[in-house]
Amino acid sequence: MSMDPAVSVKRVQQTRLRIPAHLGVIMDGNGRWAQARGKLRTEGHIEGVKALRRLVELCINYGVGHLTVFSFSSENWTRPKDEVSFIFNLLRRFVASDLQKLIRGNVQVRIIGSRLGLEESLVRLIDDVEAKTARNTGLVLIVAFNYGGKAEIADATRRIAAEVAAGRLRAEEITEATIEAALYTAGLPDPDLIIRTSGEQRISNFLLWQSAYSEFVFVDENWPDFDEASFVRVLETYSHRERRFGGVEAKLP
Ligand code: IPE
Ligand code: IPE
Ligand code: MG
Repeated sequence: MSMDPAVSVKRVQQTRLRIPAHLGVIMDGNGRWAQARGKLRTEGHIEGVKALRRLVELCINYGVGHLTVFSFSSENWTRPKDEVSFIFNLLRRFVASDLQKLIRGNVQVRIIGSRLGLEESLVRLIDDVEAKTARNTGLVLIVAFNYGGKAEIADATRRIAAEVAAGRLRAEEITEATIEAALYTAGLPDPDLIIRTSGEQRISNFLLWQSAYSEFVFVDENWPDFDEASFVRVLETYSHRERRFGGVEAKLP
């Protein structure tokens, strides 16, 4: 770890930063980062992985419990074939290069998204990473890969409908909890804060159900430029937000 956790913890105490228990990040702007430097878009994705490593360390040091990052959406299939396969290979390379470090860092990795249409070998890799880190008790790193919020809700609906058709569940018994249990994120808390980089202000099909009461912070930096200073600025903004969840009084966190 390049940072001294004690220094970061001290900073949290000094500035009274409120730390989200679950942080979601829409890591956007890799392509624009590269284009602005006369580089190929793929080089932006490589820098994006470096920014992701940095973020994982920051979350560990600042005490974020769950981190969900959006790394490939179900709509990203519409990109040129070369770029899609580059991103897929990047996931493989990230796992190959970082798995040991994640295990040592006590990080539990979960990959959410549709497994349909993914190569057999990639599905095995995903299962392997999850299995090898399943007993870790530190940061939970959730990678949304081949993920779409609408597809997730459709998958959940299909699963619940099958239960009803098989006579194991009655339609009247379906509650929000039934749906939550059928989502890819079953058992995980909802994100408290969602950050999107690159100046875009939209959700692009990320965690639709789970973000019902999330705070959103949009920052102008492209994802590869997102560093500790950006992270602290976002946390400061978040710390001033009043969360009401439909009530009249502010609730933490
Ligand atoms: C985010 O950066 C990474 C993925 C969506 C895979 P982009 O590739 O969307 O970069 P921009 O938005 O084109 O700059
Ligand atoms: C959202 O970014 C998906 C990821 C960051 C993986 P996009 O770049 O795909 O979103 P749009 O197309 O600008 O809405
Ligand atoms: Mg984009």
